[in-house]
Amino acid sequence: MARLIFLGPPGSGKGTQAAQLAQDEQISHISTGELLRKAVADKTDLGVKAKYYMDKGELVPDQLVLDMVRERLHKLDVQSGWILDGFPRNVAQAESLENLLKEVAQVSDSVISLEVPDDLLVDRLLARGRKDDNEETIRRRLEVYREQTAPLIDFYRARGQLKSIDGAQPISSVTAVLKQVICS
Ligand code: AP5
Repeated sequence: MARLIFLGPPGSGKGTQAAQLAQDEQISHISTGELLRKAVADKTDLGVKAKYYMDKGELVPDQLVLDMVRERLHKLDVQSGWILDGFPRNVAQAESLENLLKEVAQVSDSVISLEVPDDLLVDRLLARGRKDDNEETIRRRLEVYREQTAPLIDFYRARGQLKSIDGAQPISSVTAVLKQVICS
């Protein structure tokens, strides 16, 4: 059973790799970005609040995201394992996650950091063209990643949980390396 956290800048392939691995390993893929986009599409209270931040490339306030992740981690289908994709996103969220995992009597096994050069990230995102994949928002998402999320690399390295992977290779090569790394 695997319980994994995927870290990486926008466009590094977190969602792509998490979806493939979750399918292959029959575990749950928990993407905070996807959950938030669904809330926006459904126009829930959470979605209405989150949209303001997402459109600007800013992080949605921690408490909103944490409540959403707590609800998800209490569901039965996560008992066979999970991948957290896009959460935690800052040190406060990582500390909250540690408490939340104690609540559900679980621990994370590894933290996968996908590394990709910035120019490649921008090319991939512009080619995808999601609502927040315009130049201005991408620039802000990358800044937010550097300022708030990248410090988690040291946070998890200090806990001996970090495994870094070259995410600039073709999708199937990254998946193959990922599988080797999580088994090692
Ligand atoms: P989120 O949905 O998490 O977006 P992101 O982190 O910006 O990541 P992306 O989905 O853009 O990239 P990815 O790394 O998943 O890459 P992907 O596989 O899609 O968050 C969106 C927003 O929600 C945030 O800005 C924030 O507002 C909010 N949010 C989410 N979580 C939050 C949290 N915890 N706290 C607060 N706010 C939060 O790939 C990208 C493209 O590249 C695809 O087209 C793919 O086909 C292609 N690609 C992938 N891998 C490769 C490869 N190896 N070779 C070639 N192409 C590739």
